[in-house]
Amino acid sequence: MPPIKLAIVTLLLLLPSLVVTSPTEKATKKQPNILILLVDDLGFGDIGANGNTTIRTPNVDRIAKEGVRLSHHLTAAPVCTPSRSALLTGKYPIRMGMVPSIQMQVFPFTASQAGLPTNETTFAKVAQRSGYRTGLIGKWHLGAHCSNSKDFCHHPNNHGFDYFYGCLLTLLKDFSGLGESILHSRFPHYYRNISLTLLATLASLGVGYKIGILPRKLCIFLALLGVLVTGFLFCLPGYLVRTVNSQLHRQTELVEQPIRFEKLTQRLVWEGEEFLDKAVDEGKPFLLFMSFLQVHSPLYNSVPGYRGRSAHGWYGDNIEEMDWSVGQILDALDKRGLSDDTIVYFSSDNGGHIEETTHTGERAGGHNGIYRGSKCQGAVDGGIRVPGLLRWPGVIPAGSQSNALTSQMDIFPTLLEAMGQPVPSGIDGRSITKLLRQPQSTKSPHDFLFQYCGTLLHAVRWNSPEGVLKLRHYSPNWLPGTEGCRYICGCMEGLGSVRHSVPLLYDLSTDERETAIVPADSERYRRLVPQILEAERRHQASLSSVPSQFTFAKLMWRPWLQDCCNFPLCNCRDTKYDSRPA
Ligand SMILES: *[C@@H]1O[C@H](CO)[C@@H](O)[C@H](O)[C@H]1NC(C)=O
Ligand SMILES: *[C@@H]1O[C@H](CO)[C@@H](O)[C@H](O)[C@H]1NC(C)=O
Repeated sequence: MPPIKLAIVTLLLLLPSLVVTSPTEKATKKQPNILILLVDDLGFGDIGANGNTTIRTPNVDRIAKEGVRLSHHLTAAPVCTPSRSALLTGKYPIRMGMVPSIQMQVFPFTASQAGLPTNETTFAKVAQRSGYRTGLIGKWHLGAHCSNSKDFCHHPNNHGFDYFYGCLLTLLKDFSGLGESILHSRFPHYYRNISLTLLATLASLGVGYKIGILPRKLCIFLALLGVLVTGFLFCLPGYLVRTVNSQLHRQTELVEQPIRFEKLTQRLVWEGEEFLDKAVDEGKPFLLFMSFLQVHSPLYNSVPGYRGRSAHGWYGDNIEEMDWSVGQILDALDKRGLSDDTIVYFSSDNGGHIEETTHTGERAGGHNGIYRGSKCQGAVDGGIRVPGLLRWPGVIPAGSQSNALTSQMDIFPTLLEAMGQPVPSGIDGRSITKLLRQPQSTKSPHDFLFQYCGTLLHAVRWNSPEGVLKLRHYSPNWLPGTEGCRYICGCMEGLGSVRHSVPLLYDLSTDERETAIVPADSERYRRLVPQILEAERRHQASLSSVPSQFTFAKLMWRPWLQDCCNFPLCNCRDTKYDSRPA
């Protein structure tokens, strides 16, 4: 065959494969990388992108400039454990038993049995199955163990994350080593009340013995039992919060106890960078979940130059240091040439905790913009309206904004679509892919969104033809003149919340701060409220009963589930970055 003919034949033979792998075709077929940046307790008003002119968050703001800002973005719960479970699964926490029915709103111990049920599907599990390298760096707070200290059934590794480095629980103010205690902030007279209860019990036993209705042996037995149970179940864990919970794990190995704040922010960033390098080496798409430990209490700064830097005290310094972390990770994408193929999502797990203070009484909680209330409050918006920023070059128009109603539960189906995976039925999130492509002109995918506080439905939002309406069954029971309670408000009637026998209707399209109710005797109220109540009934009928993860038995501290390094010292230090300069 003459060379020219040979060349033509070869070209014809190669043509189909050339067409199939043409660069544009490849770009649309390729699974995008996914980077999730979730801040702990960051308020809506804590970032420049949401109108804060005095805090400096240029890196966070960059995501908005290069992508979209969702102005009406909501978490499924006003506190982290339930809210994070909803983000990961696209379902209301109540469908997974991840809702507290008592005053304890989050998991209090690493060594307990509570956790995100192992049969739930997280977006990480789906990503892993479809060929992604998946990693979670930072806070988990969705459980660890089931029946023994080695099973790690609720651990991120068992929920779809190939790699984990971080805190299985959360930062707690007790970890500062400055004598602060979360139990004390919430219940200032806790130990006094426990001691008085114990004394009263012992006194009654004594009386019972004296007047002869209780035999002596039974009295001694009951007294000992009372002392043991009180000490073991109600006092010891409170004193040991730091020892038992302040832990960093790499995969399932306990590498640091208690957590050292030295280079902590940098360590999370470095772990994230190393994860990216591994994914690039393996030639796999990645899903990296940077779940920052900041800006939750206790406040700390580990990056040189950040303490005392902001115009908003120590809390502001924490925000600016968190923004530094965001910048490092975005730079890491740029340096590896990954930015154009990566979806970036930035948000917070709940609103700012306005009642939080440091050990010296300095403010240590976020700013929720114009929205009222705080973390752990169900009915109002401060605890659930969070920053929502997304960047996806070539898909999301840069510098755009959407005021449509969106939920963090929407991230699950949206990411699945981006991965090219089918979206399961029975979830509560709705895909916002279309909205991301055309933020200005696309309507919200939701008709109704339900606002829970624990197991109680505190409010319902209706994306009605007349704008976004909100019906409130409860209100937080604020201390007079404030929008907070003593440390946190509870969800239950009489315990932090008040119930309205005639629900309150607000029109959020004209009254975002929820200051003026639509009168209950108005034509509008009578016309609209029955439709909202009907939607509530339909929603409640769709719930089936599942085992609760918030029973006392599941939440309580179990010594046999306790991880401890260098037993019995329970003290070790992650030395991996010792020689790396801060
Ligand atoms: C900006 O954020 C800081 C830190 O939370 C807060 O103190 C301040 O009030 C906010 N300012 C505005 C204008 O939102
Ligand atoms: C997980 O298991 C629990 C308890 O067996 C069950 O009630 C629940 O419906 C299951 N959830 C899923 C998503 O299969």
